[in-house]
Amino acid sequence: TTPLRALIAPDGGELVELVVPEVDRPSKQAEASSLPYIPLTPIDVEWVHVVSEGWASPLRGFMRQTEYLQALHFNSLRLADGSVVNMSVPIVLAIDDLQKEAIATSSSIALRAPSGELIAILRNIEIYKHNKEERIARTWGTTAPGLPYVEEALTSSGNWLVGGDLEVLQPIKYYDGLDQYRLSPAQLRKIFEEKQADAVFAFQLRNPVHNGHALLMTDTRKRLLEMGYKNPILLLHPLGGYTKADDVPLQWRMKQHEKVLEEGVLDPESTVVAIFPSPMHYAGPTEVQWHAKARINAGADFYIVGRDPAGMGHPTQKRDLYDPDHGKLVLSMAPGLERLNILPFKVAAYDKSQGKMAFFDPSRAEDFLFISGTKMRNFAKLGEKPPAGFMCPEGWQVLVDYYQSLSTN
Ligand code: ADX
Repeated sequence: TTPLRALIAPDGGELVELVVPEVDRPSKQAEASSLPYIPLTPIDVEWVHVVSEGWASPLRGFMRQTEYLQALHFNSLRLADGSVVNMSVPIVLAIDDLQKEAIATSSSIALRAPSGELIAILRNIEIYKHNKEERIARTWGTTAPGLPYVEEALTSSGNWLVGGDLEVLQPIKYYDGLDQYRLSPAQLRKIFEEKQADAVFAFQLRNPVHNGHALLMTDTRKRLLEMGYKNPILLLHPLGGYTKADDVPLQWRMKQHEKVLEEGVLDPESTVVAIFPSPMHYAGPTEVQWHAKARINAGADFYIVGRDPAGMGHPTQKRDLYDPDHGKLVLSMAPGLERLNILPFKVAAYDKSQGKMAFFDPSRAEDFLFISGTKMRNFAKLGEKPPAGFMCPEGWQVLVDYYQSLSTN
């Protein structure tokens, strides 16, 4: 038998895991109850979840000022040994003036979920200024009104940030019927090892899988086999945290992904479906680095990237917010991602001459039809079918059910 090829090492060498061992929970819980606390928003809880499982390894908590500044200015963190890991989005906890006053004399604080539950202790805290305009401009490259994450999480957030080391009191759960898909990087690594993967290729997505997405994934598998890998495993990794209002909700996307596997568009044998717990920033080339970096920590050594990753339309102008080619260009040059094999893809669109999704050929542009999210929504709303070959029929039916549930409510 061939020796098992070791998975790619996590950033910083060791996977960060910050959930308190079960035996220590009662005493930590008691301690947390005695500390001043900060109430968290649902998005804050998602970040606690992300950091607690080591997706952001080697980060061990909410960023302190030096980490925040490195993320903001360099999209990376320099470690004690001089090496550099990628870290392109600030993972920070905002507090307001009153909260700052309430915790100012404590070195440790408790974090309380919207449910009222104490979920974590933040130790050796550091409080520093939250210049929101600067954070927004540097992360998104614009301060135009209407950026979804900004409106949801930043506009009314406090003028201070509090950093520190996290200790999480129990694994974060959502009780929405999907927790079994929320596999941690450690759990995913175990699965890839059990499957004896010799390559793991990750596909980040926040949309339903159409046959253009599928083309990227099946083409990658083919390429990896040609390169000599014997057992490449696909990590189909839908993002499960905050998404903007007109994206398809996670519940429906998971149903849709299930159909895509059932109908054999993707091979269930060589695919692992799991939920990536991060919230979505829609920060394009800046954010796609985070998407890629987090997957290294889960054991992926190949990363698929296509058109306009983590992008969206400009909130006030009729154009893409980011150049649709910049995501893949930036990823292939990003500091700290040198160990990750980036697999860039051209845009896929519906080829009317073949009746299927194919890579766009500019020499016969008139043969191609671009089916945007808006177009899909309109087809579904009007009860019209998209062209055959755009998406598997049962997957499409899930979307019809979703969009029709919207219009009847
Ligand atoms: S993202 O925010 O998660 O990047 P989405 O779910 O739309 O958005 O995309 C998932 C991945 O598929 C990204 O790598 C994106 O670049 C790629 N992609 C989406 N649509 C296309 C397309 N038509 N052609 C090529 N790549 C695409």
